[in-house]
Amino acid sequence: MKKNLLALGLAVCMAASLAGCGGNKAAETTADATTEASSTTETSAEKESENTGDGAESTEAAAAEVQTVAAGKLTVATSPDFAPYEFYAIGEDGTPALAGFDLALAQYIADDLGLELEVVTVDFDGVLSELQTKSVDLGMAGLSPDPKREGIMDFSDLYYMGGQSLVTVKANADTYNTFESINKSDVSVGAQIGSIQMDLAVVNSPDADIIPLPKVTDIIAELLAGKLDAAYIETDVAKSYQKNYPELEIVMEVPYDQEGSAIGVCKGNASLLAAVNASIAKALEDGSMEKFIAEANELASGEKYEGLLDESGQVQQ
Ligand code: ARG
Repeated sequence: MKKNLLALGLAVCMAASLAGCGGNKAAETTADATTEASSTTETSAEKESENTGDGAESTEAAAAEVQTVAAGKLTVATSPDFAPYEFYAIGEDGTPALAGFDLALAQYIADDLGLELEVVTVDFDGVLSELQTKSVDLGMAGLSPDPKREGIMDFSDLYYMGGQSLVTVKANADTYNTFESINKSDVSVGAQIGSIQMDLAVVNSPDADIIPLPKVTDIIAELLAGKLDAAYIETDVAKSYQKNYPELEIVMEVPYDQEGSAIGVCKGNASLLAAVNASIAKALEDGSMEKFIAEANELASGEKYEGLLDESGQVQQ
């Protein structure tokens, strides 16, 4: 599996999406979810507050109870081809740096647990296999809580609400704008390998020439190059590319019954799952998640790295 070697095919721009998803897309905290989540931390938090009354210490107590693949670290797999969830933003010093609200939430959870954040970058199907082999603690990659994945990971509560779309280019928007119109053997339809978009392609356009690609940025590049006629893409991600590449056209919403993003948690690690859910509930409650989404959208509207990174995360010459 190729790690740290990610082609970001295209830059992304999210400026106008700020209004659209800068805050209103964070998953809603229901009273139930909050109660449930806070009861999971009760033991450690209460124990600590009885002893010291110090909130910071209680998170360390929670971390002490949580087993991770590398002691003292929270190891998180992600696939940074997916702005505003995760992508490479070009920093002020001109170097690409991982960005996105998934990464901000990962840091929040790590801080909450008193653990050091370690991020592993892989293609999306790699996020699934890293979890399956229990090589990482968490997978944070705009993961849909697909019941078919429950054998290889546990799912946290939802932290973001997104949707699915069928995308083509403006020039073809009148031709490929229904399931029927793309469900033909001479119509090429892209989807990311391992993703639920792949399932959507198979279910909704079984007769099409379905082209699996490793990165969403590859899919966008192929659409723009005319090598793909249409593609199934997460709506907010499609919108972000559309800002930079206005020739892209979102032609229709695609129904999907497991909407929203969850964190994939290493299977069977109940204490980590409980701690992650408690952190998510807190991030939704205290406004952090909204802030992470707004910041990610703003960063995604700036300059992004489009090339490859070498093994050490440096720009390849
Ligand atoms: N939500 C979709 C899924 O879970 C796609 C996620 C792709 N994520 C990424 N970082 N490329 O299958």
